Amino acid sequence: MDTNKIRIFDTTLRDGEQSPGAAMTAEQKLQIARALRDLGVDVIEAGFPISSKIQFDGVKEIADVLQKESNQKESPYIVALARCVEKDIDAAYDATKNNDKKAVHIFIATSPIHMEYKLKKTPEEVLATVKKMISYAKNKGFEHIEFSAEDASRSEFDFLVEVFRTAIDNGATTINVPDTVGYAIPHEYGELIGKLKKAIPEFNDKVYLSVHCHNDLGLANANAISAVVNGATQVEVTINGIGERAGNTALEEFVMSLDTRKDLINKTTNINKKLLYPTSKQLIHLTGLVPARNKPIIGENVFIHESGIHQDGMIKNRQTYEIINPEMIGRDSDTLVLGRHSGMNGFKTRLEKLGIKIEPKEKLEEAFQKFSELADTKKEVYDDDLFVILGDIVNDIPEGYSLKYHSIFSEKDFTSTEKVNQSARVELIKGNKKGNVYEAASSSGDGPVDAIFKAITKITKVEPVLKEYIVQAVSSGTDAQGEVKLSLEIKGEVYNGRGSSTDVIEASAKAYLNAINKHLFVKK
Ligand code: KIV
Ligand code: ZN
Repeated sequence: MDTNKIRIFDTTLRDGEQSPGAAMTAEQKLQIARALRDLGVDVIEAGFPISSKIQFDGVKEIADVLQKESNQKESPYIVALARCVEKDIDAAYDATKNNDKKAVHIFIATSPIHMEYKLKKTPEEVLATVKKMISYAKNKGFEHIEFSAEDASRSEFDFLVEVFRTAIDNGATTINVPDTVGYAIPHEYGELIGKLKKAIPEFNDKVYLSVHCHNDLGLANANAISAVVNGATQVEVTINGIGERAGNTALEEFVMSLDTRKDLINKTTNINKKLLYPTSKQLIHLTGLVPARNKPIIGENVFIHESGIHQDGMIKNRQTYEIINPEMIGRDSDTLVLGRHSGMNGFKTRLEKLGIKIEPKEKLEEAFQKFSELADTKKEVYDDDLFVILGDIVNDIPEGYSLKYHSIFSEKDFTSTEKVNQSARVELIKGNKKGNVYEAASSSGDGPVDAIFKAITKITKVEPVLKEYIVQAVSSGTDAQGEVKLSLEIKGEVYNGRGSSTDVIEASAKAYLNAINKHLFVKK
């Protein structure tokens, strides 16, 4: 074990996908898994197979496909999550068994509050369960077993050591110390890691000591850094920091902290930094989860300098106000713009540079077709346009509703002398796109977007509450595509949708349908 090389365990597809609005289809998950592999993560936590058939199938698809592609590419470990229960470990095994680099991640809570109220188990019972279930996983054939003590940062130290000792003695090869509720403070968490390293000698060379930090106090990255300085050898992260509640340590923040302050922290990772920004963009375009503009590293504002004093400094020397060169993370100025004369080769080469791989061949051809259509209406096709095309291809939910036709018309409201009502007519297709056409009209709406949403509701019979609605131009120029990202609340669950078009009303309808289709056809 090279203790100066921090192993990156990515849980975008498990802890990340657990967060509201981040549910992905199997196809989207596979796309992200490929992007994570190309980014250079060492471990991909692909999901929680016992929790549903969709989860099981999603993990299996990733394990199977990445195994098939492993002769062309260095492959990461594929991990499935399991509670300390036999049937969970069996499901994790079945979902990953075709992969040579399979691993299981088994967890049980160890803090007094979790043991008493959630598990209703005594510490002795928890200890016995750990012993039994880690041995079970070992006998099942897992070589790589990660054990997590959920809520470790609020657990009693001596008990934690006893639990970890038991897990290691029975076959655990990685021990994870989650700050499950984001409660720890950096110096305190670093001290905990340092003390664990002293108490358990295997952490020096045989067993990975991992950290998993939540961001409830905005300290997830600071805690991960403090842990690494004190001896942690694996860090669990997600792209854009998505995850339960306030999220997890963001992969891009952690990697760039190590890199930017290598004068202080002599640790590296296997991450290809040039793919940090493209990978973040892929996740945004696939899930519709848009980070804040000031989100470190990947936010829209973080390389924009507004004040005169800052602009003056930047002109004289970029390092006056920039500690990271945007090109290092793939926010490059290499604006090789594609256009109507670009062929398949140029298109494919540009996608590869952005870390995008579209498979199988028919999908790539479909993407090229969409690109050609766009290039016919729009002179210059930028990187962001390509991410949108990718999103359209991968977001497609084949059994769902899609927009065939729409029109908006205005009618004078005869009950009022000034008001003009907007009405909409839509035609939707369901299923294989050759299926039935459903037609509806809304007689009035509060503007054209509201009118078209009402008409869609008449057909789908889904009545959501619109929680968020964002329209953005995808690239510059008056011929730019508009991209709509929205969140709908349906029966207490949040669904994100996205849609694009040079017509913003059409983009809105597509986004609305995308979220409704996730509700109707993508079960968690
Ligand atoms: O936050 C947490 O404790 C988890 C565990 C399953 C590792 O996500
Ligand atoms: Zn977590």
